[in-house]
Amino acid sequence: MAKLKVLYTERQIQDRLRELAQQIGQDYQDRSITAVVVLKGALFFAADLLRLLPNPVSVQFVELKSYAGTESSGDVRIHYWQEEFQVGGRDVLIIEDILDTGITLDFLVRKVEQMGARSVRVCCLLEKPARRRVAVQAHYVGFILSDVFVVGYGLDYEERYRNLSYIAQLEDGPGPA
Ligand code: XMP
Ligand code: MG
Repeated sequence: MAKLKVLYTERQIQDRLRELAQQIGQDYQDRSITAVVVLKGALFFAADLLRLLPNPVSVQFVELKSYAGTESSGDVRIHYWQEEFQVGGRDVLIIEDILDTGITLDFLVRKVEQMGARSVRVCCLLEKPARRRVAVQAHYVGFILSDVFVVGYGLDYEERYRNLSYIAQLEDGPGPA
């Protein structure tokens, strides 16, 4: 059984989400937000955050694959993208679990821009600045992490641990990401 070290409790996560929602609400004022939620990792983050936003929100899901085990492959592929989904003229807020090398988000930001979004911003639950390989900016970040592999609150190791209500470091699992 892998050893888990709790980094952020459920309480800490929910408190931080309220701060993020307040900031997003202020920035967008009364504009509608088109949330693009990156599956599967941002599932719980998006569900909790979006319910705290005062703005009118529409939600779209995308699933991208760039990861095998714990290593970024650098090769991003779209696994799921609803065909009729359009972002033209919309204010898009991409909701992602973790900004690691930046390869996944760079791909998605460019795609949404090419599709004619009016604005594109990124909201990440976690960010690992030390791992960045591509210059992509997250406008809203929940927590900054060092180079550790984490699970829980949507994040998995080989599809396990997503349903934890907290974020934990997998101590004797894959090692540093
Ligand atoms: P890039 O490198 O494209 O990767 O920024 C983002 C994706 O990598 C996965 N990732 C992790 N998943 N614990 C996880 O469960 C981690 O510590 C971790 N670091 C990166 C994640 O799928 C994210 O969307
Ligand atoms: Mg994963």
